[in-house]
This record gives sequence, C-alpha cells and structure tokens, in this order.
Amino acid sequence: MTELESIGHGSAIAADQPVEDLAAEREVAQGEVLVLDYGGQYSQLIARRVRECGVFSELLPHHVGVDEVRKRNPKGLILSGGPASVYAEGAPKLDPELLELGVPVLGICYGMQALVLTLGGKVEGAEIGEFGRSKLTIFEDGGRLLGGLPAEQTCWMSHRDTVYEAPPGFNALARSTGSPVAALEDVERGLYGIQFHPEVVHTPYGQQILTRFLEDVCGAERTWSPASIIEEQIDRIRKQVGDGQVICGLSGGVDSSVAALLVHRAIGDQLTCVFVDHGLMRKNEGEQVISAFRDTFKVPLVAVDAEDRFLRVLAGKSDPEDKRKAIGAEFIRVFEEEAVRLGDAKFLVQGTLYSDVIESGGGTGAATIKSHHNVGGLPDDLEFDLVEPLRALFKDEVRAVGAELGLPERLVWRQPFPGPGLAIRIVGGEATKERLDTLRNCDYILQDEIRKAGLYRELWQSFCVLPDIRTVGVQGDERTYGYVVAIRAVTSDDAMTADWARLPYDLLEQIASRMINEVREVNRVVLDITSKPPGTIEWE
Ligand code: XMP
Repeated sequence: MTELESIGHGSAIAADQPVEDLAAEREVAQGEVLVLDYGGQYSQLIARRVRECGVFSELLPHHVGVDEVRKRNPKGLILSGGPASVYAEGAPKLDPELLELGVPVLGICYGMQALVLTLGGKVEGAEIGEFGRSKLTIFEDGGRLLGGLPAEQTCWMSHRDTVYEAPPGFNALARSTGSPVAALEDVERGLYGIQFHPEVVHTPYGQQILTRFLEDVCGAERTWSPASIIEEQIDRIRKQVGDGQVICGLSGGVDSSVAALLVHRAIGDQLTCVFVDHGLMRKNEGEQVISAFRDTFKVPLVAVDAEDRFLRVLAGKSDPEDKRKAIGAEFIRVFEEEAVRLGDAKFLVQGTLYSDVIESGGGTGAATIKSHHNVGGLPDDLEFDLVEPLRALFKDEVRAVGAELGLPERLVWRQPFPGPGLAIRIVGGEATKERLDTLRNCDYILQDEIRKAGLYRELWQSFCVLPDIRTVGVQGDERTYGYVVAIRAVTSDDAMTADWARLPYDLLEQIASRMINEVREVNRVVLDITSKPPGTIEWE
C-alpha cells in the first residue's frame, strides 16, 4: 500500500473495547477535546495534533455512546476518518444525539460524510477517488473555520465517497479538485466538516485549521504542556503512594527513564530503581544509565550485574522463542530477588504509554502488563500496586517531559531497543559472550557513524544483526573466514509498518570499512533492504 492509499485505511479501536476513563483520573486541565475513532489509520495522530495545540485530547471508539461523552463534558468533538464507505453494510453510524449536545463538532473525511448524511445532505460514491495532494479553493470569505486563509492551498485527501451538497442550514466553504464541497459549517449549531486531512503534514494549513476550531470555536484553553503534565503527575503520584515504598525496573529506554524520574521528583528517596544489566545491552549503555540516575539525578539505584546468569540460561539456545522465554524468566527471577531484598515496597512503577492503553483495549484499574514493553515482561501476579505516570501520554510527549526533567539527550532520544537485547540479534545461533561482543562492537560503529551523519533521530531504529554464518574473505593476502554482519536501518512512525532507510552510499561504505577494519571477527557487511511488511524489524 502506498502512502497515498494508506490514509484512512485501517482500524484503531475495536468495537467491543472497553473505554478507559483517563479524563476521570485527571483533576486539573479539564476541558478536553474528544476524538471519536471511526477506524482511520491517523486517528491517534489527530489526538496528538490537538495536544500539540496545548489542548488535552483523548481517542475514544466511535460507539462510545452519548452518555459517556456527556459525562466527560468535552469542549469539542472531532469525528475521525475511517476506511468504510458511509453506504457500506455495517459502516459505523453517527449517533445524531452527539450533534445535539451543544458541543462543537468537527467531522474529518469519513466523519464529515457521516455528519452530512445524518443531517440530510448529499453524499455519493464518486467514479474516481481523490487520493493524495489536492488543490483546495476557498469560497468567498472562508467562513468561521477557514476565514483569512489563502484562497488557494494544498490539502491531503483520501476518499471515494464525496459530499455533493451541504445539509440544510450549512454553508459550503470550499471545494477541491475532486470534491464539490470540501469544507462546510453551520456556525449556529457549532457543526463543522472538512473532507481533507488537517492532521497530516501534507496539508500545510492543517494545524492552523485545527487551532481555529479548538480556540475560536470550542474556546478550549491551551494549558496542556510538559510542565503542566509534570506538575499534575507529581500531585497524583504523591496522593497515590503516600509514604509507601516504590520500586521501578529501569531498562535504559525512554519510557522507564522518564517514569522513574517523574516518580523521583514526586517522592524522592521513597523510590528505588532496579537496573538489571543482563549483558545484552549495547556498548556503554549500562554505564550511561547508571551514571545518569545514580550520579546526576541521585536516584537510589540498585544495579545488578547479571551477565553471567543470563549467559548461562542462554547457553545452547538458538531458537528465538526459547531465547526470549529464557531471558524473560531469568529477568523475573533477578527482579524478584531484588524486590525481596528491598523489603517492603508496595508499589511498582511502569512506563505504560497511552498508545499501549489504546492498543490493549483500555480496561479499568488492573493494568495488563504487555510483555513487549518490559524486559521479558513482569508477570501480573506480582503483588504490587502499579504507578503509571505516563498512561495518558504519547511517545513524543514522554520525550518532551523527559527533556523538561533534564534527562540527557541520549536517553530522551534513544531509539527503541528490544527487552531481550542483543540476544535476539544473533540469528540462527547461540548468543555467546564472544558473539555478543562482536555484535556490540559492530553496533557501536554503526551508531557512531549514524550519529555523526546526523541521522540518528530520523531513523526509528538502526542496528546490526549477526547471523550464525561465516563467509570467506581475503585480507592482507590472507584468506579469512569470518562473520557476516547485516545493517538494519528503518524509518517508521509506530513500528507497525516500516521502510528500510536509504542511507547514503558513502556512509554505508564508511560503516562497512570501519567494521571490517576494527572488528577482527568480521569480514563481510550486508544491508537489509526489506520493509515491514513483509519483513519484521527485528530478524528474530
Ligand atoms: P518487529 O520485529 O516485530 O518489532 O517488527 C517491532 C518493534 O518491537 C521491538 N521488539 C521487541 N521489544 N521485546 C521488546 O521489548 C521483544 O521481544 C521485542 N521484539 C521486537 C522491535 O525492536 C521493534 O521496535
């Protein structure tokens, strides 16, 4: 699927998912704007864009029900795009009562079509769809929503059904190349619709249009910021834990680091962090974590050097799942031992993010701990109450909070790294100390060169893979028989899909020659040019 086709095709929240009540947990910064999800791939992005305007926003399933919406008392409602035709069997319906709450509504793409259809306008399937860049022409003064914007501008479209006539009481505000009515409003009733996607970067005035809706139409206050999040969370954490003892498993990733710092800011030395160094980290990473937390932030930290233990349980294992399970089980053992040693901790900090909450179906109270987000995954029968200060945040907000708390740039912007670490990057063979060191040394060179080229932040992940094969080479007139190392570098938004990064040839050459010259065990370097799908990001 191309980028052009992908917008609006996909589904986010399943119909039977329970609704997480994040708003009810919040005590300040009321006045959120709700995004109702009609299954568009970019629904989460809408909520993020709203938050970028400084307004708190949550994503809820479209079937959430009027009572639930009323209970949250939102400042505005946004109806997202979606993959269906409004005429398709089983297409998600818009409850007309949502339009009568006296809360301003903005329908985007499918959301606008559903709104138009519900209120008696004309929507029809067009012969030709409108996908990708399109020219938007604004009528007269552009009305309340588009007034003052350039009369001609680019916008991003992804639809086949098209609005031909606005419902009674509405003004058509603009047309586009393929849509006779590309934007409309009924100011009196507070109902607005746009056919294009304001949330994607290819709509240059998109953020301005969203801001117009949020500020001028909804009167939402722009109080959501990293500083306000920190203040609010500190308050909540103090209330939750009182004078109880808290522990936190620190992995070195941005989520657990930010969660730990926030909790430390709130309750100081009542928090103890446990960092289990399983010997499967990248070069110098363990030291960086220890130095940042123990020396810079003065967070009580127990660092467990468990490399030997992990190497022992990995001995003889070459199957990916066997490795994962062995590492997960050993991690729990080490962590539990430390927890017991620390005595009476009642609370456990988890770096659960809002995207995890959405993906795991929300739920109230008892949080599901997903194995993907922890080293191996802690079992849910651990007898702790969970402290989850990042539960309402998207990843970019977590980074902003981390930066605000003074977390070093290296930790704030660290690329994702799998819990089982380098062990699952030694492919088709056993993760021995010798191989781990070889892989670590190559990975170090890769990271170093990627950083020097200024590409580290642009890549979702960049890493090396060491297959358990050797190839023949020739160096200094001598035959060599060494390891082949693969370079994997991908761009992605969320790891669900990924594209292989087109790294410059000169950079690749520099990386390959350094690896072969500096890492004696390696005599060949290859590049992985597989996207996801069909490949996964990791090889195992
Ligand atoms: P795949 O390989 O499935 O990876 O495309 C998607 C993302 O998840 C990370 N990943 C893991 N993270 N434990 C983790 O904590 C794991 O076992 C694991 N396996 C994959 C991977 O690095 C990528 O960011």
